[in-house]
Amino acid sequence: SGTKLWGGRFVGDTDPIMEKFNASITYDRRLWAADVRGSQAYAKALQTAGLVTGDEMKRLLGGLDTVYEEWSSGHFQIKAGDEDVHTANERRLKELIGEVAGKLHTGRSRNDQVVTDMRLWLRDAINTLKGNSLQLISTMVDRAAAEIDILFPGYTHMQRAQPIRWSHWILSHAVALRRDVEKLDETLRRVNVLPLGSGAIAGNPLAIDRELLRKELDFDTISINSMDATGQRDFVVEFLFWASMCLTHLSKMAEDLILYSTKEFSFIQLSDAYSTGSSLMPQKKNADSLELIRSKAGRVFGRCAGFLMILKGLPSTYNKDLQEDKEAMFDTYDTVDAVLQVATGVVSTLQVCTENMSLSLALSPISFIYVCQMPFREAHSCSGKVVFLAESKNIPLNQITLEHLQTVSPLFDADVSSVWDYGSSVEQYSAPGGTARSSINAQIENMRAWLKTH
Ligand code: ARG
Repeated sequence: SGTKLWGGRFVGDTDPIMEKFNASITYDRRLWAADVRGSQAYAKALQTAGLVTGDEMKRLLGGLDTVYEEWSSGHFQIKAGDEDVHTANERRLKELIGEVAGKLHTGRSRNDQVVTDMRLWLRDAINTLKGNSLQLISTMVDRAAAEIDILFPGYTHMQRAQPIRWSHWILSHAVALRRDVEKLDETLRRVNVLPLGSGAIAGNPLAIDRELLRKELDFDTISINSMDATGQRDFVVEFLFWASMCLTHLSKMAEDLILYSTKEFSFIQLSDAYSTGSSLMPQKKNADSLELIRSKAGRVFGRCAGFLMILKGLPSTYNKDLQEDKEAMFDTYDTVDAVLQVATGVVSTLQVCTENMSLSLALSPISFIYVCQMPFREAHSCSGKVVFLAESKNIPLNQITLEHLQTVSPLFDADVSSVWDYGSSVEQYSAPGGTARSSINAQIENMRAWLKTH
């Protein structure tokens, strides 16, 4: 214990099982760059406060540069007893520059250090995820623009509902992802707050300039209360929730596409790059990419629920339970990062089987209002009867003779053929948000203008 950061008052060794149980180095090593950066800022603040000399600061900074180098070149050696990344970096710094390394932690606690590292790391991670999200959205918008002519049956309750444009379907998912990006921007504001200088709980007793730390580390603001700053992980929860929502959106899109790719629907064909075959049944092409996208929503939501469960009932300030924030954050990041990239690949490479889509188009009673000047209720009832007629004769709707139609209503005349023209049918939905070409074009323009500002 004598060699541990906190070893002074302990006698005897830690139980090796406890040692392993307590350690976080196997996963928090990912914070190495943030940890070095935070320490360098702190070394500067120590010098400004007169707690280390200019020369000592230079040695601290130089030593930390070497630590950084070692990590980035893959040469950093983790040693037995390196409990976490903070311990490991400080141990190595001491090996490199000697006793002066011991001054770096003056007035600092791992409690403010770790949460500073987490925020620095998550800030970069969020920017990467935002970039990936934008890439996916712009792929979708481009596809919507290119395929605006393709008509497609819209479903509610998984039953054919109304003809829509294929672009309308694509945009419906793109718009949800746009909301996610906006949420991510808001989350970033709350992540980008500096906790360093909060100490273990009570704050910093030395003349540490937190404003200088903020500028050095490029945070927007400094935390208001040191107990809150070291004891809360709201920003992690917010990120986990964000990821759950975003992947819920993508799982919905994946589920649609899985269905559309079945032989029964045959609306789309997934590219080989994102499918797998069956070892037993050569005719099969499985949508594994989409199934995994769908499943990752569950995984990430589990991380969110699991971490909230850890927080619930915790007392104020730092407790070791909080160490569990890291695996939740890292795993969620890795998962969302992969999902966004695979989704972009899937969406940009899938093929649309236009003929199968148009064969499945459905009748819209609204059309009867226009063609036969009926009130909506009457049109609805007439459409029902027309469908019944077609089903009892076992023929498609557009093959019912005018004579037969007139048994349903005398208002049917030769113009009724335009009802079977789905192209003009979708054009009726021209209010903002609808499926008419003008309305889809407006949505595309709106999305493109938004993309330009992001
Ligand atoms: N590895 C710890 C964590 O990730 C660092 C903070 C330890 N603080 C303490 N008071 N033991 O939470």
